[in-house]
Amino acid sequence: MGIRAKFIIIISVLSLLATLAIGYTSYMLSRQTALADAKSKGAMLFNYVEAGGTFFAKYQKPKIDELVTDKDRFIPELMSKFAVKRMQYDLFAKTQEGYQFKQATIDPLWPDNKADAEELKIIQYFVSNPGAKNKEGIIERGGEKFFYEALPVRIEKDYCLECHGDPDTAPKEQQDIYGVDHGYNWKLNDTVGASMIYVSITQAFAMAQQSALKIFFIGIGCLLVTIVCIWIFLDRAVVGPIIRLSETAKNISIGKNLCDSAHSETKDEIGVLANSIDRLRISVNKLLKRTCPNQNQDDQKKE
Ligand code: HEC
Repeated sequence: MGIRAKFIIIISVLSLLATLAIGYTSYMLSRQTALADAKSKGAMLFNYVEAGGTFFAKYQKPKIDELVTDKDRFIPELMSKFAVKRMQYDLFAKTQEGYQFKQATIDPLWPDNKADAEELKIIQYFVSNPGAKNKEGIIERGGEKFFYEALPVRIEKDYCLECHGDPDTAPKEQQDIYGVDHGYNWKLNDTVGASMIYVSITQAFAMAQQSALKIFFIGIGCLLVTIVCIWIFLDRAVVGPIIRLSETAKNISIGKNLCDSAHSETKDEIGVLANSIDRLRISVNKLLKRTCPNQNQDDQKKE
């Protein structure tokens, strides 16, 4: 294999590896950025939803309890923090895509709050880790990838059990709306569910992949142009002259074309080699006591 082919193969393999590494690094960095972005958006939305719930529980619920003294009355929009958060979020979701909020619960009053298999695992994590304040990660739902953050829902106050304890003692109107089969018999300190926020990352990950592929193909394009340039350069400046000089050396060795100068004005290594071979030609001429009709001044100087 010629020097030019060897050189091109080495350069190609190294450049290909470098291009792959750059493409992969770009993909991982874009993924990281997309995740960090999803995380901060999720945290902002979560804080806002939870702040709405806290506002309701702290300021509105006590006033409603003062106004509604009949223990059997129950109006979800006015009396349940969880109903208020769910309904507020449903309105938000109408104008904003790419997010989901769910009060995933093992055994809920409101059927849509029922935790799916993945959410059950997260709730189980909070059951096994009573000290855990939150959990986050990546999850797949319906073929779409999401970043999620989950907060545990624990029964820390007795009054929760007024509505979630014995179904017979729950407000009569609540029994009428939600039935008496689900969402009851919870116990104090039970971890009953998890508040979940989901931020879609499918699109951001696809974009990360696209930009990594773009970088890779641009790299390959540059690599091809570089290889063609190196090929032409090697051909003109190294391989071609070496072949010609070796032909000259061969001719000198058999005493042929001894009057054809191989002198080069080039200052690089090939020029040095050419001039050495030319010197050899002149010396052989001298040894054979031959003179060339067109012997130039240079030759005479070298002699
Ligand atoms: C006045 C009755 C009442 C009280 C008190 C109450 N809840 Fe609820 N809770 C409800 C109702 C009704 C729902 C269903 C909301 C809806 O329609 O989305 C609900 C929903 C929930 C849910 C969502 C799952 C489900 O059952 O649909 C959780 C979790 C929850 N409550 C936890 C609590 C906790 C914790 C407390 C105490 C801090 C509490 N609740 C106090 C009535 C109550």
